[in-house]
Amino acid sequence: MGGGDLVELAKRRGFFFGSNGAYGGTAGFYTFGPQGAALKRNVEDAWRDRFTIKEGNREIEAPTVMPEPVFEASGHLEGFDDMLIACPECDSSHRADHLVEDATDVEDAEALPGEEVEALIADAEIPCPTCGASLSGVPVESFNLMFATDIGPGDAQPGYLRPETAQGIFVEFPRLKEYARGNLPFGITQIGPAYRNEISPRGGLLRLREFTQAELEQFIDPETDDPPLDRVADVEVTLYPATEQEADDGDYVETTIGAAVEDRIIGSPWVGYYLGVAKRWYDRIGVDMDRFRFRQHLPGERAHYATDCWDAESEVDGDWIEIAGFAYRGDYDLSKHDEYGDDSFTVFKRYDEPKTVERASVDPDMATLGPEFGADAAAVAEALETLAARDPNAFDAATVTVEVGEGDAAETYEVESEVANFSIEEVTESGEHITPHVVEPSFGIGRTVQTLLAHAYRTDEVDGEERTYLALEPGIAPRDVAVFPLVTNDDRLVTLADRVASDLREAGFSVAYDDSGSIGRRYRRQDEVGTPFCLTVDRDGIEGDGPETVTLRERDSAVQVRVPVPALVDEVATLRED
Ligand code: GAP
Repeated sequence: MGGGDLVELAKRRGFFFGSNGAYGGTAGFYTFGPQGAALKRNVEDAWRDRFTIKEGNREIEAPTVMPEPVFEASGHLEGFDDMLIACPECDSSHRADHLVEDATDVEDAEALPGEEVEALIADAEIPCPTCGASLSGVPVESFNLMFATDIGPGDAQPGYLRPETAQGIFVEFPRLKEYARGNLPFGITQIGPAYRNEISPRGGLLRLREFTQAELEQFIDPETDDPPLDRVADVEVTLYPATEQEADDGDYVETTIGAAVEDRIIGSPWVGYYLGVAKRWYDRIGVDMDRFRFRQHLPGERAHYATDCWDAESEVDGDWIEIAGFAYRGDYDLSKHDEYGDDSFTVFKRYDEPKTVERASVDPDMATLGPEFGADAAAVAEALETLAARDPNAFDAATVTVEVGEGDAAETYEVESEVANFSIEEVTESGEHITPHVVEPSFGIGRTVQTLLAHAYRTDEVDGEERTYLALEPGIAPRDVAVFPLVTNDDRLVTLADRVASDLREAGFSVAYDDSGSIGRRYRRQDEVGTPFCLTVDRDGIEGDGPETVTLRERDSAVQVRVPVPALVDEVATLRED
């Protein structure tokens, strides 16, 4: 089934459709219909169960609008850009790197400088996809993907819709570390919307301007904290490391998580651990493992905050799409917020044994530095203090050299050690402040939903008729079960069907009820939205001795069995769990 067909099918069957149709539609925004909203919620619940509850992490919910200084600190204001090329003829805008990738052999145009992409567009004579005009010589611009807004009226504060849920976790680290009583490692999760003003939204839920992320920020001490790798060591994975992608005959590496970490194919054991947990989770929710791989980012492809990143990719309609990223963010985010924010983004790491160390200090009285330091006196004193704290031996020499200011304004000063009035004392320290590192599994929920639909789509023949159905996993499918009275002109059947549906709903199942059309058509309707079990109330079930019974039909095999009504809740629960 082609990608366009899947989007059409999703619309027809109530999974998702382009928003604001009555007003001409708004590219990049999708509404989940009744089936899709239920499927999406089940995926989110399954993610929460695995990555929050079972991993012993904790979930928060932060606002989606954040003030500008957050994104100055995080680097998004400066560097969260895509390459835009605007057609001079028809004014349409396009991702310049995507045009190059689609029309040439270049696979990673995003990593190239804008001028090179411009040159490739000119060389390959790539026309405007909208009107066909030549794009030769048209400049490639940087386009920041964040949606800007004003916070409050009047002299409002500039703000942005968050482009990743992660920043809502990072900025609250000073409080979150208190809830964790300052102990590493700990993990914080969040499921919620993120916003990116994508230049070319496309592919149904694949590239949206508003989408749902499920993110986990794992805070660790990189020197001492190890993940429980043995839990996933035997998970088999298909890896596509950067070195293989760069090789002419790039091959996959079929291995296990344990071996991949030991062989240093996966550099960080924490990243390895979460790749293993994720692989099992994707398998369990119904992603086809023959159409799934982990691909490492090429060096030029990594986000500004990451030193390594692996994507979970699924194959949909012949293309590999990124459905989650597993980034090693190091201390990038917490260091930045520590520098720009007012709170401390470090944790106190207690030593096993107190340590006696030499603590150096300089004369705090700026005046002793003398007039030759002019306006820089205070900055020079601060630089001396920093130096003294870092290197107590620096003042053994007669003079020390410090630099103040940045870039062209930087000044170098030679200071006599005596002038600095340097002193040293021995102190006992019980620990030190460290900036935790962050390992981040980040999942796109919409892309997962679209993958599940693509991988669940099946056709076969039942009773001599062709049917299409969605083989969605029980517990993930929008509905757990459907209930039908065989006919509506027999009150006894309708009454029992109502009671069965109501009992199942009370027991917590999501139940569809359908009493219109032939029974065959009703089965087909449920098959098409992936309902795993259908219960039909017929006369055989209410006549005769013994408890009432209904027929239970399993979606994929279309096999029917008779089940006593008093056993139904337990039976459906067991089937849903299996
Ligand atoms: N905090 C890290 C982060 O945001 P990302 O790779 O940019 O990393 C994570 O995004 C996931 O979010 C992706 O793997 C993808 O599934 C999803 N995603 C990103 N941009 C998206 C978009 N425009 N539309 C739909 N999903 C998107």
